[in-house]
Amino acid sequence: MELHVQDLEYVYHQGTPLEVKALHGVSFFLPQGEVLGILGGTGSGKTTLIKNLNGLLRPTSGHVLIDGIDSHACGPGLRRRIGLVFQRPERQLFEETVYRDISFVLRRFTALKETQIRDRVATACNLVGLDMGDVADRSPLALSDGEKRKAAIAGILVNEPEIVVLDEPAVGLDPPAIADLIRFIEEIKASRKRSVILVSHDMERFLGVMDRLLVLNNGTAVAWGSPADVCRDLAADRQMRALLPGLALLVHDLQEAGCPLEPRGYRVADLVDQILRLPGGPN
Ligand SMILES: Nc1ncnc2c1ncn2[C@@H]1O[C@H](COP(=O)(O)OP(=O)(O)OP(=O)(O)O)[C@@H](O)[C@H]1O
Ligand SMILES: [Mg+2]
Repeated sequence: MELHVQDLEYVYHQGTPLEVKALHGVSFFLPQGEVLGILGGTGSGKTTLIKNLNGLLRPTSGHVLIDGIDSHACGPGLRRRIGLVFQRPERQLFEETVYRDISFVLRRFTALKETQIRDRVATACNLVGLDMGDVADRSPLALSDGEKRKAAIAGILVNEPEIVVLDEPAVGLDPPAIADLIRFIEEIKASRKRSVILVSHDMERFLGVMDRLLVLNNGTAVAWGSPADVCRDLAADRQMRALLPGLALLVHDLQEAGCPLEPRGYRVADLVDQILRLPGGPN
């Protein structure tokens, strides 16, 4: 699936005294199989933007095009094609058991047989690193926060969405759980079949897996492109700098100082290697 967003505007409570213009003409493009990061501070419009992508909110003006077709024309099936894992996934879990929760949409809205449903649930659990044998019969409420997030992601993956949207997926996760999440995103990316949209106010850990980065500020897209290009565009602006991941700033500032570094996926080991090999370095 290719996603084009053109001049998207969204106004909450339009025409009332409570009117809030949350998005001001945002445009971007996501080819199939890529990972897009949406970075922005609190209240910058990230969640509003992704809700406009799958029809949970309807753009006030502008367009969301899915393979060139306006999202209005895609019908309710769009919510399964663009699967959204919310900022607080525990609000997405409501069934008595984890298995029933993850399989809810398949049982309710498809004609799949129980064995097919089991297979899809097992595949999704495997992908997110959830041991189905261990959690299937437990209450979702009895899971840890990290496991809840995995269960919520699995509940979206069983629908085989073409785009997986993760709103602040790293909040509350410890570093090993974030590493699991990154491995999962890399696996999806390697399949080239699905795209991923990652929404966060802190992209440090996700820099290496992202193909493109969109930066929102007060509902406006202030930069869009490869992480390195976005960083180059925004690093000189004091306010915008604060949003950028430290590792990207370090690479950028060293480059500006004349150090010939290549971001190449922003892997710490690779950057250390490049620095050690610089002329005059220890090696
Ligand atoms: N239901 C709503 N009614 C009115 N205004 C809203 C509503 N939801 C969000 N807003 C406003 O829209 C703007 C963007 O909010 P949004 O939730 O999209 O930001 P965000 O970037 O996801 O923030 P956060 O990082 O805190 O999750 C904010 O000014 C917010 O107050
Ligand atoms: Mg949000």
